[in-house]
Amino acid sequence: MQKQMKQLALIFSVILQVHGYEGSPSPHSSAVGDPGMKRDGLRVAFEAWNFCNEVGFEAPHMGSPRAADCFDVSSTSGYSLMHKVTDLDNKLGIGMEKPGIISEAALQNPDLYAVEKELYLGSLCQVSDKPNPWSFWMVMLKNGNYDTKSGLCPQNGKKIPPFNQLGKFPCFDTGCMNQPVLNHGKTELLSDGQTMRGWFNGTYELEAGLGNGLNGISYYEVVWEKRVGIGGWVFKHKLKTSKKYPWLMLYLRADATKGFSGGYHYETRGMLKTLPESPNFKVRLTLDIKQGGGQKSQFYLVDIGSCWKNNGKPCDGDVTTDVTRYSEMIINPKTALWCNSKSLYNCPPYHTFRNGTRVHRTDNRRFPYEAYHVYCAPGNAEHLEVPVGTCDPFSNPQAQEILQLLPHPVWGEYGYPTRLGDGWVGDPRTWELDVGGLSSRLYFYQDPGTTPARRIWTSVDVGTEIYEDEEAIAEWHLSDFDVVITSARRSQILQKIFNYGDKKGVYVSVIIKSNTVNFQSFEN
Ligand SMILES: *[C@@H]1O[C@H](CO)[C@@H](O)[C@H](O)[C@H]1NC(C)=O
Ligand SMILES: *[C@@H]1O[C@H](CO)[C@@H](O)[C@H](O)[C@H]1NC(C)=O
Repeated sequence: MQKQMKQLALIFSVILQVHGYEGSPSPHSSAVGDPGMKRDGLRVAFEAWNFCNEVGFEAPHMGSPRAADCFDVSSTSGYSLMHKVTDLDNKLGIGMEKPGIISEAALQNPDLYAVEKELYLGSLCQVSDKPNPWSFWMVMLKNGNYDTKSGLCPQNGKKIPPFNQLGKFPCFDTGCMNQPVLNHGKTELLSDGQTMRGWFNGTYELEAGLGNGLNGISYYEVVWEKRVGIGGWVFKHKLKTSKKYPWLMLYLRADATKGFSGGYHYETRGMLKTLPESPNFKVRLTLDIKQGGGQKSQFYLVDIGSCWKNNGKPCDGDVTTDVTRYSEMIINPKTALWCNSKSLYNCPPYHTFRNGTRVHRTDNRRFPYEAYHVYCAPGNAEHLEVPVGTCDPFSNPQAQEILQLLPHPVWGEYGYPTRLGDGWVGDPRTWELDVGGLSSRLYFYQDPGTTPARRIWTSVDVGTEIYEDEEAIAEWHLSDFDVVITSARRSQILQKIFNYGDKKGVYVSVIIKSNTVNFQSFEN
């Protein structure tokens, strides 16, 4: 037996060498199209979501809330930027025809129009690459207002009629779910001839004049800047809430380049040309938080989003059984400790240490309560361990499950912050987070007796969710963002080997024969 294992190990290492030699993806390859945000020819887009990740109604004269800024840098006689998206493209909105791009069904439907516009912008920005082409980084802005009388949002993916709420969700009045003003400063070369800069900004107060500055109104801004040929892009973010818009989110996302992305049930475009799967990926980024955004700012050092069904099967677009899964590390040290031994419904049923040891949440000597802010379960799960809190059923197009973490020594082994305040205001850091390793050990609900879901993440984000506060301001710089695949999966390698052409097939079979291990035992 032991001898056999040795032979297997030998073969495996030989095959790994073959694998590398043949120019397949190296074991440490980037999953994003623009590793570390270093590419001069930037690809960035904007999307705005209402409470349940749709559009609902477009803001007057703003078009569909999707836009992009993409260009290549030409260096014939000084630098110049060759833009790929026109102002007209960015202004596209309901009622505007675009044959072959916008379908008849989308023409008067703001939700569908945004989807088709995003695909179109994605095609304009697309960069050919292996294993897949990619389109852009995504700036995502979300308004947390919910008018329950609007009938706009489903409940755990099921359509529901309008209803009266009892102050559970912020909403000043009819129209509180509006889309924002979007201003766009197309990337340009500054007068030094070398610095490139562009921006998106705006407010949700559609009637606001700028005379009074930002007092009393909401505000968002993303400015990106880089010197041609030097360093990487720095994305400078600002987010401010107001009395009318006390719950806002602003993230920079690396989304899947096709298929769904976290929390979005439509075909999407993005930056993840390879989808990272737990445990084999890391996330690298530099984060410099200038202003925290107050006590209620849930600043996500990193947020990962995916989708799988409660039976472990991949999502297929059926919103009644698809479940969005999120996990987030909140680094605001003022975050309340909702999970504790007296509020077990806010904690996941168990914690798994890196060595695989599991401790149940009732084991109050060993369970690391302070490592969790809150856990909430999918509203459509049928075999939950009580006590349990279920996630908000309205704020996603389908049911969702969320696990929010806080800095704690148990996460240290994954390169995550271990103390409250690490990486917070005045403590800028470059992080290398073993997001894959950590997320492979997190608790997520699954129906008993079903095969564990493959944890494939379609969205990796950084940014803040201010929930809920008035006149709170957050400000941060993000750079060096990368998602790195750390090791090829065994099954993938095997599949590659089996798919190899004749020559390689012979080579592999020769190795197998000379080690006198037959194919069957190798497969086992
Ligand atoms: C958006 O940014 C531009 C350029 O920095 C600035 O002139 C404008 O005032 C900003 N918009 C708002 C609403 O502050
Ligand atoms: C696993 O790690 C935990 C926490 O460090 C420790 O308490 C436990 O004894 C370890 N278990 C084993 C089997 O090593």
